[in-house]
Amino acid sequence: MDPYTYLKRIEHEFRIAPGAAQALIKSFHGEMRKGLARRKSSLKMLPTYVGRPSGNERGTYMAIDLGGSNFRVLLVTLKGGGAMSRPVSAKYRLDKKHITSTGQRLFDFIARAIKDFTCRHKEVADKHVEVGFTFSFPVKQRGIASGVLKSWTKGFSARGVIGKDVVALLKEALSRAGLDDVTVTALANDTVGTMVAGSYRDTDCDVGVILGTGTNACYPDANKDMIINTEWGNFNKLRTTRFDNEVDRSSRNPGQQIFEKMISGMYLGQVCRFIVLDLIGRGLLFPEKRPAIFSRPYMFTAEHMSLIEEDRSPSLGRVKEFLSSNGLAKNTYDDRALLRQICRMISGRAARLSVAGVLAVITFMDPALRRRHTVAIDGTVFEKYYGFKNMMRQSLKYLGGIRARRIKLALTKDGSGAGAAIIAACADSA
Ligand code: BGC
Repeated sequence: MDPYTYLKRIEHEFRIAPGAAQALIKSFHGEMRKGLARRKSSLKMLPTYVGRPSGNERGTYMAIDLGGSNFRVLLVTLKGGGAMSRPVSAKYRLDKKHITSTGQRLFDFIARAIKDFTCRHKEVADKHVEVGFTFSFPVKQRGIASGVLKSWTKGFSARGVIGKDVVALLKEALSRAGLDDVTVTALANDTVGTMVAGSYRDTDCDVGVILGTGTNACYPDANKDMIINTEWGNFNKLRTTRFDNEVDRSSRNPGQQIFEKMISGMYLGQVCRFIVLDLIGRGLLFPEKRPAIFSRPYMFTAEHMSLIEEDRSPSLGRVKEFLSSNGLAKNTYDDRALLRQICRMISGRAARLSVAGVLAVITFMDPALRRRHTVAIDGTVFEKYYGFKNMMRQSLKYLGGIRARRIKLALTKDGSGAGAAIIAACADSA
């Protein structure tokens, strides 16, 4: 069989037609209901003890953000009336040793980064500072400033943290570092921070979504009068392909975060890698030599995929360069075109699945789409992946129909950091 015919077959498995999206939305609603009723469900539907902000919160707060490839510290001044200063921020690179050894090592790293930040910024040096802690993992909260980690995701595996209160662990590390002026007043998931930052400015905002290293969404529950963290990355009532199953099997958390493994930045490159290896195995791609970048897991990334898709030149010169610099100087136009087609197929499915998730959350609140809804979205896949925002907007029309015009997808950059500061302010005034 020629490679294009074979790929067509795979493309068929990756297609999400409106009927399939409707079925997905229906089972999503079923899982949401079960999760809220505390019955067994792939959606944890975690209460967050945070409501929507008034927009009038004021004051200077520190936000710290753990959950992606960097740890970040931000300083935000809220001015009321939906306004805030441009955050002052610093990034600290998280190495594998920080995220996969012990909890103490991870939290000591965080405390050291905060210490470094406070020494460098006179606004907070030697002053009492209140912190909003964005911790982007499934946490069972017991209040606004306390919560127990249920499981690690996104390749984190620090020992001795699951089942523990992460705010207590942070406080212990702060005290070990001599940071007694730092008080942790709020704990929040990144989706919650993003939604809160979005609704600080836009009163139609009632969904927060992260499409980055991991993926997740939250929304305000009218009955509980607080935001619910769906932990949608763990949704598993959907059809997967053999490639998704391979990604799952070879991951650190098999059987978990199935939706996330089809959508988020950490895994898109892995899905691509397994398809490429399948084609190589059949002699349909790179017949001369298997490029090293596809041999080892997690080397080929979503960033590479975006770069490949961005190449619109007739000869696919940038793809050629990319392959050459990765040890495959001899590659044909067909190799390059096939690789680009595979990337598009995977990112297109990720965009459609994300939209199906957004539609599920919105129609759970407003089944007939009577109101306007702004979805605050943060994360590198939405922000930076070539064409992703457009694919999502198109999918919204395709899967949601005419009423989906009432849904606005809004990039809410740094929502998680700024949002955590707003949540800290809310906790402060409570
Ligand atoms: C975590 C969520 C988080 C999401 C986006 C997932 O892996 O379980 O809590 O919101 O990643 O960072």
